[in-house]
Amino acid sequence: MNLFVANWKMNMLRAGARAYAQELGRRIGDRGLDVELVVAPPLTALDAARDAGERWSMAAQNVSSEAEGAFTGEVSARQLVDAGCRYVIIGHSERRTLFGEAGPMLARKLARAREAELVPIYCVGETADEHTAGATDSVLSDQIATLRDDPPGAPLVVAYEPVWCIGTGTAATPRDAAVASTRIRELLASRQLRVLYGGSVNPANAGDLLRDGKVDGFLIGGASLDPAAFAAISRAETG
Ligand code: PGA
Repeated sequence: MNLFVANWKMNMLRAGARAYAQELGRRIGDRGLDVELVVAPPLTALDAARDAGERWSMAAQNVSSEAEGAFTGEVSARQLVDAGCRYVIIGHSERRTLFGEAGPMLARKLARAREAELVPIYCVGETADEHTAGATDSVLSDQIATLRDDPPGAPLVVAYEPVWCIGTGTAATPRDAAVASTRIRELLASRQLRVLYGGSVNPANAGDLLRDGKVDGFLIGGASLDPAAFAAISRAETG
């Protein structure tokens, strides 16, 4: 089943999250959509963004690389599960570039997620310079190598998010998305996984990307802050 993840990043207070959940519920209706929906709000809004009818599940945007103990300011994988999360985003480019998270730390985060049975949404993608230099392939192999010790039988979501597309208003072409998602599937050939595309997805480009991008859904930032746009994107495959 295709998967659509709303990554709110560091946006929204609880009142806004409650209003969002009501509106999203109204937009998708009582029966829900024939796709899987996940909302990743800031941790402070996890409860407010939850759906009592469970038409969408919850994700965290980050997790500690440590399991428990004296790590001021961190939130553990078990605490995320306890707070109702099923998924966790790991290795988002904003974590990699703004907070210096690299392979070894991300591998530890993946391990903590597995211990707690959180499903990782592991993000990969090249920068603009790497893209222009034709280095996409080697960047993807390096970033996928971080999954080396991840248990091969466990459910996995990989999000291809070219850094030059995130928050820029310019999405990758369906062809670029298809090349990258095919490469990711080759690199993880022995595994069952869903590959998402992320980077300036909106209701206008979602249909083409889903049809021709060889992906199983999207990780959506800016557009997902509007419940109408998130619902419209999630309906993209049905037209
Ligand atoms: P965007 O963000 O949709 O605003 O480009 C995507 C992401 O960072 O996950």
